[in-house]
Amino acid sequence: MCGIVGYIGSRNTVDVLLNGLTSLEYRGYDSSGVSVYDRDDGEIKIFKAEGKLNNLKEILKNDTTLKTPGIGIGHIRWATHGVPSVENAHPHTCNCGNLVIVHNGIIENYLELKSKLENLGCKFKSQTDTETIAHLIAQKYKEEQNLTNAVRNAVKELKGAYALCVMHRNEPNLIVAARKNAPLLIGVGNNENFIASDVPAIISYTKHACYLNDDEIATVWANKFEVCDLEGKIINKRVEILPWESQTINKMGYKHFMLKEIHEQPDVVRNVLSNKLIDANTKIKLDEVKLNSDTIKNLSRIEIIACGTSLHAAMVGKYIIESMTKIAVDVEASSEYIYREKTTNENTLVIGVSQSGETADTITAIRQAKQTGAHILIITNRPDSTMAREAHSLVPVNAGIEVSVAATKSYMAQVLSFYLFAIYLSEIKNTMNSEQLINLKFELLKLPNLVETILQHEDEIKKCASKYASTKDFIYISRGINLASAYEGALKLKEISYINATGYPAGELKHGPIAMLDETMPVMVIMMPGVVYEKILSNAQEAKARHAKLIALTSSNDPKLYDTFDDIIKIPQICEMLSPALTCVPLQLFAYYIAEFLGKDVDQPRNLAKSVTVE
Ligand code: M6R
Repeated sequence: MCGIVGYIGSRNTVDVLLNGLTSLEYRGYDSSGVSVYDRDDGEIKIFKAEGKLNNLKEILKNDTTLKTPGIGIGHIRWATHGVPSVENAHPHTCNCGNLVIVHNGIIENYLELKSKLENLGCKFKSQTDTETIAHLIAQKYKEEQNLTNAVRNAVKELKGAYALCVMHRNEPNLIVAARKNAPLLIGVGNNENFIASDVPAIISYTKHACYLNDDEIATVWANKFEVCDLEGKIINKRVEILPWESQTINKMGYKHFMLKEIHEQPDVVRNVLSNKLIDANTKIKLDEVKLNSDTIKNLSRIEIIACGTSLHAAMVGKYIIESMTKIAVDVEASSEYIYREKTTNENTLVIGVSQSGETADTITAIRQAKQTGAHILIITNRPDSTMAREAHSLVPVNAGIEVSVAATKSYMAQVLSFYLFAIYLSEIKNTMNSEQLINLKFELLKLPNLVETILQHEDEIKKCASKYASTKDFIYISRGINLASAYEGALKLKEISYINATGYPAGELKHGPIAMLDETMPVMVIMMPGVVYEKILSNAQEAKARHAKLIALTSSNDPKLYDTFDDIIKIPQICEMLSPALTCVPLQLFAYYIAEFLGKDVDQPRNLAKSVTVE
């Protein structure tokens, strides 16, 4: 949530800041702003706009007052405290306007600080928690006229999460940055330096970066940077080479990133499997899993924690791991795990699943689990993220950058990573016979082509979506391994079309939700041949008897289906265990086309941000 950038060097500062913010727009789009120090007139200038970044770009395009800025900070906001508005947009300043700040995070004790600062004469112009930090640092600055020390002394009083960039008119050759529980890195260039919440903001300028840790404060000049702890002690930091290619984020002719990312899935499947699953006869290789074989053999319990779409991948993971390894698996939303008694210990494996690796709830949950002694394994699309760096073991999912706020290809990659991890465990624990393992791997290798086949039938799914675009509510049902597909399909639909869609276990319909059914309520029934197929069919018939409109998502050729269902989305056959890797694709397309028919902002749905870095 919220993205911040900073730049000091000889490039066109406004361009660097806007490019950086463009790549961080996935973190929020309620408002944006930049602040630059204009060397010609010795002034700090602030430009802000409500809404999408384009509004700020328009303002800056028409501005004639900017001359030679060589240092600046920028922000893209996902509103937490205070409505989206120009006055609440960052950067924020102190009363005299000499100090400017951008912030990502939430200051939990801001009301207490605010009242102290008001007693000292500070006048607040916004409803944000961030403005408190600006006034607090300005007060500290009065004491010793040193920005680094002022920031260091101020952050000691903050409770909550922050990544900050601060500039002061009296120290126009440096930016001070600080972090706690929110990501921040310094991009190291040649006589220029960058600060950003995430790699995409800097990668087209430099591949060298230094990640800040919690409670570190960085002073960044054009030709060097220095990092200290809260007591001012200098810390030697490592500059890493980022394993990223400089890339422009591009829709490649697709109308939306979401559609492009859905279409990338056959290649994503190939990428996830490559190197790890060489052929059906070779054991799975997971180089970054550091569990030794004795630990795996004695493992009796796994807990998986995640949020949103990653939580749905975790639910599929539970089925896969339990079926293949007989290890008991619990799945929990990170935000719930945080506030309950912990039952994990050194004999538990805790798996965190996260596309971004920066989701605040999941970071807190894995930190708590780590304190219980559990081994932490992270399944993530970002091996350079906070979660990955704190984990004992890693399964990188290799889905490539996902821009659309609605997760699609990362879900596919997470689900596939669970297959690989479960087979890996099973090969060590000997819980499946070799024939079963070979068959499963053989089927896994078929997946890229099967996903391609589904995409070739996109027009049929689009046509089906057009019939349901005007509905106000939707129910998704399934059982067994595809129950998570029902939850995920419903989440996709509601987050991009704002239609009230809910996933239910099909057998639970009759325990309450069936009361909602009538001819206005469509039901998407995910029913892949397997142990629960007939049961789901009966549940669908119960819904039919209440006049609900029914859509089947199935690979079955059963002619009876035509008597029960109004529409049938056919997908290729695959064993039930692997079917979630196929059922997700038409559900993504179905949601996409409904949102597209409704003219919604598919890639940047209202109220959402891709990376939720506040609890
Ligand atoms: O980066 P993470 O996977 O940890 O993010 C978790 C959720 O915020 C995320 O999956 C969210 O639900 C997506 N918008 C779903 O499309």
